[in-house]
Amino acid sequence: MVNEADWSAIASRVRSETFVRHIERHEEIGSTNDRAMVLAAERDLPIPALVLTERQTAGRGRSANVWRSGPGALTFSVIVERPPGVPAARTPIVSLLAGLAARRAIAGCVPDAVAVKVKWPNDVYLAGRKVCGILTEVPSSSPHRIIIGIGINGNNSLSDAPDDVRRRAVSIREATGTNVDLGELLVATLIGLEEELAAFGITGEISIDSWSPHCLLTGRDIRLRLPNGDVCGVCTGVASTGSLRLETKEGPSEYKFGEVIGFD
Ligand code: BTN
Repeated sequence: MVNEADWSAIASRVRSETFVRHIERHEEIGSTNDRAMVLAAERDLPIPALVLTERQTAGRGRSANVWRSGPGALTFSVIVERPPGVPAARTPIVSLLAGLAARRAIAGCVPDAVAVKVKWPNDVYLAGRKVCGILTEVPSSSPHRIIIGIGINGNNSLSDAPDDVRRRAVSIREATGTNVDLGELLVATLIGLEEELAAFGITGEISIDSWSPHCLLTGRDIRLRLPNGDVCGVCTGVASTGSLRLETKEGPSEYKFGEVIGFD
């Protein structure tokens, strides 16, 4: 629970140190992405806009999954404009960029930064378990805007989560044994996001050099779920278009979309 004094210190850091121009904070909300969808329809909304909450009651993940955000988690959505000149088809890259920004911020508050990895397309892993999930959406009311929803397991506990979630996920506090400064984590993630989006606005690509050293999947056997069936292969990283690169029995392939359902 963040008290009012702590909150106003965090808000003033967000205003002075990051690119965010509008902040909305809720003690509890269904989903920050749902609220951001409504806000994004406002033409005069100062952008980037941040929607932040302490608890979500209807948090959403990819593929219609539920995202649990208890007290102590860092839960927010940012509305940004798609950089001018970048085609809409390149929007999925923003998920990967948000993953890089969150990874860097998380790495800055754990003793072993090397243990913090990005998992294509948009998860962050800490010591082999998921510590952050990202859900990027484009509002149909304003297709030039992008909503980046980020949930980081900071000081929350996953002890009351279902077994399968507990096996695969971890919070920073659980992994390190110490509380993390959620304000610092938020500011660092937003600063990283601004940097990633600025570079993206120039190249329209993701920098492979930024992704490769932190890629969880490179060199591993992957099972990727596609709408028409699963495909298996060894991951050889990501392409500058954001696609996942696999070496399959049929040769090298790139996949724009899909869900990694297994990796050894
Ligand atoms: C995933 O791992 O499938 C993505 C999880 C994304 C969760 C974040 S929490 C803030 C924002 N609001 C939501 O309802 N979802 C995203």
